[in-house]
Parts: sequence; structure tokens; C-alpha cells
Amino acid sequence: MDMLGGITAHEFLRDYWQKKPLVIRQAFPGFECPVSPDELAGLACEEAVESRIVIENDSGKPWQLHNGPFTPERFSQLPAEDWTLLVQGLDHWVPDIADLLDHFRFIPNWRLDDIMASYAPKGGSVGPHYDMYDVFLLQAQGHRRWTFGGHCDHTSPRVQGTPLRILSSWDGEETVTLAPGDMLYLPPGVGHYGVAEDDCITLSIGFRAPTLDDVLTSFTDYLSQTDSAAHHLDDPDLQVQENPGTIGPDVIDRLDTVIREQLGDRRNLALWFGQFATAPKSMDIVVPADEPAEPDDLAEAIRCGEQLRWNEGSRFAYHDLNDETALFVDGEQYLLKGDARPLAPLLCAASRLDMTALAEFSDDEALLGLLTNLYNQGSIYFE
Ligand code: SIN
Ligand code: CO
Repeated sequence: MDMLGGITAHEFLRDYWQKKPLVIRQAFPGFECPVSPDELAGLACEEAVESRIVIENDSGKPWQLHNGPFTPERFSQLPAEDWTLLVQGLDHWVPDIADLLDHFRFIPNWRLDDIMASYAPKGGSVGPHYDMYDVFLLQAQGHRRWTFGGHCDHTSPRVQGTPLRILSSWDGEETVTLAPGDMLYLPPGVGHYGVAEDDCITLSIGFRAPTLDDVLTSFTDYLSQTDSAAHHLDDPDLQVQENPGTIGPDVIDRLDTVIREQLGDRRNLALWFGQFATAPKSMDIVVPADEPAEPDDLAEAIRCGEQLRWNEGSRFAYHDLNDETALFVDGEQYLLKGDARPLAPLLCAASRLDMTALAEFSDDEALLGLLTNLYNQGSIYFE
């Protein structure tokens, strides 16, 4: 695969993914950044966009963080150098940025977090730090000097007096300067420090996995909303006990059985996970269609050869169960049975749906109903 500097996706996953950094020169030859610094500043002024400014020396205080949205005037009050603007979820707001994700489809859709942009004038950086997720740092405009290496964790010493987790005594192992089109892959926990050499935009394609805390909390939350969760523990075999204060081993056994039964349900686990892993990060990402469509409208559009695509912020995934296929789109679940099952892989394979393949289903009610739902929910649209 060209984007990986001559190694295959298989080799990348085997040798680098979650293991060690990789510098890829000209991963995207001739890359032109789809957004300008002014456009990033404009996005950072919008309510729905998550943005931050990091200033290295903010009136004497180290590495200060300011959360957006900002006013346009805020940008004229910034120092000439040594600050960074971060804009989160750029794939959702800029279609050309979302298209970059098509190069990363060898990693499952559910692993994708988002694409963040950082803009910095000369000297700007967010400080030496480590992240808990895999990231591809694509140099989009200007140049950035990256120092990276060494594994860090919560015990690594940090700079005091800043809300950011900046490493205080860390040297890194390697230094490279990236030019537009170059890319650096970093696994979780590897320290890194990127300093802008000139007017610089870097795109972070981030792949965040849930924490065990997320998994436990969210799955038990899901289970607690199922019908069986409303049942009370029963004890028809209750025996007289000497001390009313005793909680006997039989009670603990019963609890143990109930919890194991609930947690051991793989079908529920799969259904929960698909919804959890595709849930939109904010309410602004998947917005219902202005004009709801009817199945006939979808059929007509497919016949006319129109191109359907995922909403830029949408997440599609599916899981084959024994007798049905669960399709997950933006935190919603659709159970497909029988002839409808192949629709799930078809809808999940690429951001632009394979319209030739869809046309074969164009008088299938299940497909048209499903597409209508997805369209009205705001997860797909006609390009
Ligand atoms: C940046 O692009 O300035 C920061 C990205 C990162 O270090 O994760
Ligand atoms: Co980082």
C-alpha cells in the first residue's frame, strides 16, 4: 500500500500497529491541505465545533489551555508565536478531510475516533506528551519537527501549573522534520513533541479504543435497560437464620449466578458493543434530514444512478449473529434477517455506497425501508 511507504497493510499491522512508531515520507505525495488556517479559525468560532487553544507561555504561566468556541477577536490577541489551535472532529465538518479516511479502511471503522487539525505559527506546539490512542500525524501544510520515542505512563513526571499533561523530563529518541504529505504513526503511550517550524497544519487521524472502565460502565448500563433487569431477586427457599444480620453464602451465590448469566450473554454483548462503538460523539454530528424521504424516493434515486454516501461524521459497522446480522449506524441497531443480511456488509464497506450492488436490491422493501431510515436519520445522503 503506497500510503504506508511501500509496506502492505498486513505488514504494518503486524510490525508497527500498537508496537512502534513509523515515519512515512510522502505517504500522500503532493498533499495539499484541504483547509486553510483561516478556515480552522472560523470553525473554532462555531458553537458545534470542539476547539482549543494552547499557549506555551501565557503571561508567565506554562502551557495554558483555552476552550472554544472563540470570538474572531480572540485570534488577534494571540502572541505572534508559540501557540496552537486544535480543531476536533474535522472529518465531520470538511468532506475533503473525511475522504482521507478512505485510506485508513484497513483499520476497522469502529476503531476510528476522528481527525483533529492543529494549526500553529512558528514555534507552536502542545508540549511533550503522550496519548492513549494510536495516531497518524499527517503533515498537511508547512513543516513540523517531531521528537518521539520512549514509553510513558501515568507515573511519568509532569510539568506543574498546567491543566495539560505535559512531560517534564523526557528527551525522546528520534527527531524528524515532516513536510507536507509526510506522516508519522505513533502507538499509544509513546512520548512525542512536535514543534512548528513555520506556519504549520498537522492532521491527527486518531484511533481510540475504549477503556475497560468505558466497557464495564456502558455494558452494565445497557443491561440495566433490558426487560429482564426489572426483575427482583427472589428467595422462595428462604430458611430461618440465627442472626437476622447474617448475609448468607446462598445470597452471594445467587448474586453470582445472576450476574454471570447477564454478563455471559454474548448476543447482548455484541448488540451493546455495536451501538456503543458507532454512537456519535455529539448531537450535532448526525442531524435528521430537512425533508424526510419515502422509500419510493430512494428507489427512484437509485434507478437514476445517484450516489449515496455516509454522512461525514457517521460510523457504520455490523456483526454476524447466528441467524441474523446486526447493522449498527450511529448508535442505532438494525437486525437483518434472511435475504436482507448481505445489506449490512454492503452498507459498511466504503463511505460511497456501491450503487451497482444496491441497484440489485432496488425493489426490495427491506432495503428501501432501511435506506429511508438511514437517510431520514441523517446517516447517509445523496452526493
Ligand atoms: C499537534 O498536532 O500539534 C498535536 C498532535 C499530537 O501531538 O497528538
Ligand atoms: Co499527541
